[in-house]
Amino acid sequence: MNSNNGTILIAGGAGYIGSQMNKALNNKGYRTIVVDNLSAGHREFARWGEFHRCDLGDIEGLRSVFAGRSISAVMHFCAFTYVGESVEDPQKYYINNVKNTINLLQVMREHGVKRFIFSSTAAIFGNPVEIPIAENHPKEPINPYGRSKLMIEQILEDYAGAYDLRYVALRYFNAAGADPDCDVGEWHDPETHLIPLVLDAALGARENIAIFGTDYDTPDGTCVRDYIHVADLAGAHVAALEHLGGGGQSDAFNLGNGKGFSVREIIDAARKVTGKDIPVVEKGRRAGDPAVLIADSARAMSVLNWKPAHADIEEIIATAWRWHQKLYREYKKSPF
Ligand code: UFG
Repeated sequence: MNSNNGTILIAGGAGYIGSQMNKALNNKGYRTIVVDNLSAGHREFARWGEFHRCDLGDIEGLRSVFAGRSISAVMHFCAFTYVGESVEDPQKYYINNVKNTINLLQVMREHGVKRFIFSSTAAIFGNPVEIPIAENHPKEPINPYGRSKLMIEQILEDYAGAYDLRYVALRYFNAAGADPDCDVGEWHDPETHLIPLVLDAALGARENIAIFGTDYDTPDGTCVRDYIHVADLAGAHVAALEHLGGGGQSDAFNLGNGKGFSVREIIDAARKVTGKDIPVVEKGRRAGDPAVLIADSARAMSVLNWKPAHADIEEIIATAWRWHQKLYREYKKSPF
């Protein structure tokens, strides 16, 4: 292993995906600098490299992190991600997801850092008009969260045209699973995502799992999503970094497994993995949920030479289940 592949700054490196990224980069011989305000991240998860508690709104704080350091690329995972909240309080989303990203890009320019990898989302596409969703699918986000991410993609295009910047935007479908070694994993507060909530029900930490909508135009009436393992997302970032390092041009890629699972299928797979009965209650639709989201990731596979290593849904849920039990035992110190 090369022990000096360069230094990567990971904004949001104490969060769910950023902490997995930090581990992957250190395993690959990169040095890392984590910047996180710990509003959603956890200090315990920034286990590798340097750590700086800093908000991207604090441009002077950012400047002092960059000062005197030779940073070869920046990966940016900081964002608010609750769709419903983004509708209720759009300013919060535009300040954190847009304005603070502009701050980061500004400080990068000031320090001559020219490579950027951005966490984008399937939410930039809005309601799909075609499945699977390829990169050229129309981009018509239906909420401020999706719009905030699309705005940054557009800003990146402008910056790359005008300044000496190359970037890759990676549009995640449904990030899921946990570190196979159980070093880091998902810990959101509040938790809104399906798999951790299903696992809460398996653990007895909640009475049941609500299915939001059973009348969608899907085989079993529940929403279908493309769940992609968090370690595979980290692998795609490494591939994107190597792409830019090798002189590759700015680009955007959709990241999923290309296979959809309904809410009921996820609950059934979780029953199988955990061996627990998971009680279900059927509820009405959640606002803003498209029926089906499935990625076409052929371009990431061909251009980045990326291939998911943990595509099996039971394996994804099994890694999440091991982590979930550890989370309660070691972090939440709860009896579950
Ligand atoms: N769901 C339930 N019950 C729950 C929670 C979720 O039935 O208690 C359903 C949702 O309605 C949805 C599916 O499970 O159909 C997956 O929901 P998640 O909340 O886990 O994930 P989303 O697909 O809503 O969200 C993901 C990302 C978001 C991103 C969004 C884009 O996590 O950051 O895709 O559409 F904005």
